[in-house]
Amino acid sequence: MALALDVPDRTAAMALVERFGADFGVMKVGLELFIAEGPALVRDIVATGSRVFLDLKLHDIPNTVEHAARRVGSLGVWLLTLHTQGGPDMVAAGARGLREGAADARSSAATRSPEPVALGVTVLTSDAEASPGLLAERAALAREGGCGGLVCAAPDLPTVSAAAPGLLRVVPGIRPVGASAGDQRRVATPTAALAAGADVLVIGRAVTAAADPHAAAAAVVAEVTAELAGD
Ligand code: C5P
Repeated sequence: MALALDVPDRTAAMALVERFGADFGVMKVGLELFIAEGPALVRDIVATGSRVFLDLKLHDIPNTVEHAARRVGSLGVWLLTLHTQGGPDMVAAGARGLREGAADARSSAATRSPEPVALGVTVLTSDAEASPGLLAERAALAREGGCGGLVCAAPDLPTVSAAAPGLLRVVPGIRPVGASAGDQRRVATPTAALAAGADVLVIGRAVTAAADPHAAAAAVVAEVTAELAGD
C-alpha cells in the first residue's frame, strides 16, 4: 500500500512517514510536496527505509523526460509515473532514463535501492469516464515502452490487465466505505480494488484527511490484511 503524502511541507510529510511508514511500506511524493521540498526530502524518506513512489506524471518531449527520469533514478526511488498521453517515444525515453539513472547511482555509491519501476499513467481517476479503447491503447503503449507497471482506476483493471498482462497494477481512487470521494470519480473500496487485481493501493485523503488518521489507517490496513488472507 502507498500512502499519498499530499501535504505542503517536510514537517507534515515526515510526521506521516514516521507514523505510517511501517504500515504502508510505500510513501508517495506528489507534485505539491516535491515542488515544496525537492529531491532532498525524497532522499530523506528513502533513508528511513520506506520505498518512495515519486508521482510526477512526466509528460514532455522524449529528451526532456529521459533526462528528468535519469535524475529521479539517481534518488533511489522505487516508482516513477510517466503519462502515457506523451506517446510511445516519450514513455520509452522515460523508462530508459529511470533505469540508467538508478544503475549509475548504484555503480558510484554503495546504495541498496530497489530496482526502479516506471509506471504508465493511463486515464486519471478524476475523469468520470475512460473508454476501453483508450485504456487498452495506453496500457499496451506503457508495456511496449518498457514500463514495469501501470496506474489505473479499479474499474479499469480488467481492460488494462488484458491489454498489458504482467505489469504491476497501481490503483488510486481508493475509498473505504463511507469515505468522501472528493474530486475522484472512478473510486473503489480497498477490498473491491484488490479483488479486481490491484497490486498496490494508493491511499490519500481517506487517511490523511480523516478526523482520526491513525484509526482510519488502522481500518484500511485491517481491511487489506483480511482481504489478502482470503477472509
Ligand atoms: O486523496 P486521494 O486518495 O484521492 O489521493 C490519490 C492520490 O493518487 C493523489 O496523490 C493523486 O495525485 C494520485 N493519483 C490519482 N490518480 C491517478 C494517478 C495518481 O489520484 N491516475
